[in-house]
Amino acid sequence: MIFRKGEFFNGPGGLALGAKMVRVVDKNGVEYRVEHEWANDIDESACRTFIHNICPDRPKSVINKDVRELDIETLGEIDAFTFGFPCNDYSIVGEKKGLEGNYGPLYTYGVKVLRKFQPKWFVAENVSGLQSANEGQAFNMIMRDLMESGYKITPHLYKFQDYGIPQTRHRIIIVGIRDDINKEFRVPAPTHGEGRLPYKTAKQALTEPPITADAPNNEFTRHTSKVIEFLNHIPAGQNAWFKEIPEHLRLNVKGAKMSQIYRRLHPDHPSYTVTGSGGGGTHMYHWSEPRALTNRERARIQTFPDDYVFLGGKEKVRQQIGMAVPPEGARIIIEAILKTFAGIEYDSIEAKWNANEFVFEPELELISV
Ligand SMILES: C[S@@+](CC[C@H](N)C(=O)[O-])C[C@H]1O[C@@H](n2cnc3c(N)ncnc32)[C@H](O)[C@@H]1O
Repeated sequence: MIFRKGEFFNGPGGLALGAKMVRVVDKNGVEYRVEHEWANDIDESACRTFIHNICPDRPKSVINKDVRELDIETLGEIDAFTFGFPCNDYSIVGEKKGLEGNYGPLYTYGVKVLRKFQPKWFVAENVSGLQSANEGQAFNMIMRDLMESGYKITPHLYKFQDYGIPQTRHRIIIVGIRDDINKEFRVPAPTHGEGRLPYKTAKQALTEPPITADAPNNEFTRHTSKVIEFLNHIPAGQNAWFKEIPEHLRLNVKGAKMSQIYRRLHPDHPSYTVTGSGGGGTHMYHWSEPRALTNRERARIQTFPDDYVFLGGKEKVRQQIGMAVPPEGARIIIEAILKTFAGIEYDSIEAKWNANEFVFEPELELISV
């Protein structure tokens, strides 16, 4: 069974690569896999990266435009849909707009696709902060909209380090299966940490195997001698606020001291979360060499293979890598979906949320800001 997949907010293709890697065969020898059908993203360089790696033979299937201006009537039929909607686009106001309005919050464009195409399953992704945005009302409303589109949903907070990803990245991922399909998705059980396999470490990610000199996207950042001296005073796992940094080198920061600033990786632990933006001190730092990571090293922590080429300028590539779903994490979740369809058992755990928890609050609606 082939699931033709549409995708919104495709980014560089973390979710898409995970989907592409899955192949499940049931007891009758029937193969289950996912095939790219179309995708959309506003970012030109992310679209080029996606085409280059995911669908080089079908460049026109990736539509580079604002999703709010995309005519979904022009899109082809699909059986599966994925959307890692941007996380900063909702606020609550006391009036009813939303799905019917011209410009709703970005997740509503994904909901429109679900309502029009009724794919057999979907995967939606967002940051863990979604659960508390607007005192939980945004999460509540999004879950309700997804269910009202005709889906049984399984929302869960995935801690990717528990699945062998060398990074403490926590993301809410919602799997939906169409109401009329008599299958129930279960969250795949963690495999690493706490009495299971050991966590995959940052050092393993960057050195096993070593990154070759000709690897793409592996340019080093040039640092001033002051930054190098500063980093030399920060031990592995510590950050810019380490108390033994000499007085004359200390950063002059008033107010909140973000723990990720000039934070060096610890070689024996999973990396902290790879992010895609931020100024000085936010580029992630090697545990023993006084330098920022290269984009290729960040891509390794995100589990992209070395032959996955990111297109665009260095900062654009950094942004693409930081915003992606780790392909290996996506692979694990999508493999569980295909096993669910194929009737193949796998170890599972209870989801963090039960769909019955999401209640209807008619007086509230989300709009984009
Ligand atoms: C979190 S990233 C998605 C990453 C992707 N799921 C992956 O695994 O690689 C969100 C994406 O939404 C895109 N985006 C933001 N606003 C958009 C809009 N109005 N229309 C279309 N795409 C948009 C961004 O360019 C970005 O690539």
